Amino acid sequence: MSSETAIPRINGERLWHSLQQLGEIGADASSGGVTRLSLSDAELEARQFIVCLMKEAGLDVRQDEAGNLIGRLEGELPGAVVTGSHIDSVIQAGRFDGPLGVLSGIEALRTVKEQGIRHARPLEVICFTDEEGVRFGAGYFGSRAMAGSWDEAWLELTDFSGITLKEAMERANLKPHKASQAARSGEEIKAYVELHIEQGRVLEDREIPVGIATAIYGHRWLEVRLQGRADHAGTTPMKLRRDPMAAAAEAMLAAERIALQAGGVATAGTLQISPGAINVIPGEVIFTLDVRHERLDSLAEMARAIESAVNQVADERRLEAAIRIIDGADPVQSAESVMAAIAAGCGELNIPEHRMICGAGHDAVVMSGITDMGLILIRSKDGISHHPQEWSSLDDCEAGANVLLHTLIRLANDIIV
Ligand code: GLV
Ligand code: MN
Ligand code: MN
Repeated sequence: MSSETAIPRINGERLWHSLQQLGEIGADASSGGVTRLSLSDAELEARQFIVCLMKEAGLDVRQDEAGNLIGRLEGELPGAVVTGSHIDSVIQAGRFDGPLGVLSGIEALRTVKEQGIRHARPLEVICFTDEEGVRFGAGYFGSRAMAGSWDEAWLELTDFSGITLKEAMERANLKPHKASQAARSGEEIKAYVELHIEQGRVLEDREIPVGIATAIYGHRWLEVRLQGRADHAGTTPMKLRRDPMAAAAEAMLAAERIALQAGGVATAGTLQISPGAINVIPGEVIFTLDVRHERLDSLAEMARAIESAVNQVADERRLEAAIRIIDGADPVQSAESVMAAIAAGCGELNIPEHRMICGAGHDAVVMSGITDMGLILIRSKDGISHHPQEWSSLDDCEAGANVLLHTLIRLANDIIV
């Protein structure tokens, strides 16, 4: 047997098949993408698919108090090596963001079991509850519960149709007030390594299939409410208007300028206009800003500068402004030990080692609060994500899942690089 064939490998076709099957759940005919918001009917159906797949893989399966689905292979030592990601999506999403991490984790553990690969430590794959935060305006619920930072106040958050998180959890047969009991410690979880599509252009530009994240951007989500006075669009002279919509446009441009100057990013992703009629000057506008930076001080400064720009625009236009931070997480660093294990996995598979910063948010951000964290990134076609055209090739997904497999084996056997 050649040394090439002796290296354990996952089944790429099987991984790809499960990715396509999962992508059919919540498939959105109008956009050609997937809409599978957290705890929606589609996401609950997708959870059933994940449970079946975990069982098929021979894992012990349980759901914790926060709704996280956990598949486990028992080991001799305490302190599990854990991988995971999410299956909830944004609106009109692609098929890879989240699912690739969960399915690669299941495939990796299935390979370990099938091939009888030694793992002294337990191995786990976790499908976390609500990573995206789109439905309730805050996210990372499952990983935050697991990392011990669950906040009971989140239960009162509402979605677009007024359903609270508490109601959505109850509908999913969860017990919302028990969610904090999902908390686990660093002793229980020795290391966490997530696999995710890059969602950017770095790997494609360098023609490399896999990257190793050294750090992940932090974010602040701001809600801005501007109150003016609704009035007649035809008869109200321009100078007498108190128009919150024109102010929102100015504030969004200010956020864009501030992000450019700070080397961060800022996005106005939602906008509600009231009353919202073609011939009525709006009376109230509410919009959200997603602000991100790799450095905590710069992130905080960006949020402050945006707040002051909004207040200035509101003053100039005689409006009432109210700004709230509705969610956020600080930037985090990957652990050298996990990065080294990923790099060694890349080496074994003849994949170039490339370290890079990650701009997207992941459950890995939260898990880094309780354990050593690492993040494997896979090349994205044209860098497109949060869009139906999001794509990574079968070869790249397979390469990433193989790197994940080797990383898990190394960490589970305490192989120090
Ligand atoms: C998650 O996809 C995020 O970065 O918003
Ligand atoms: Mn996403
Ligand atoms: Mn994701």
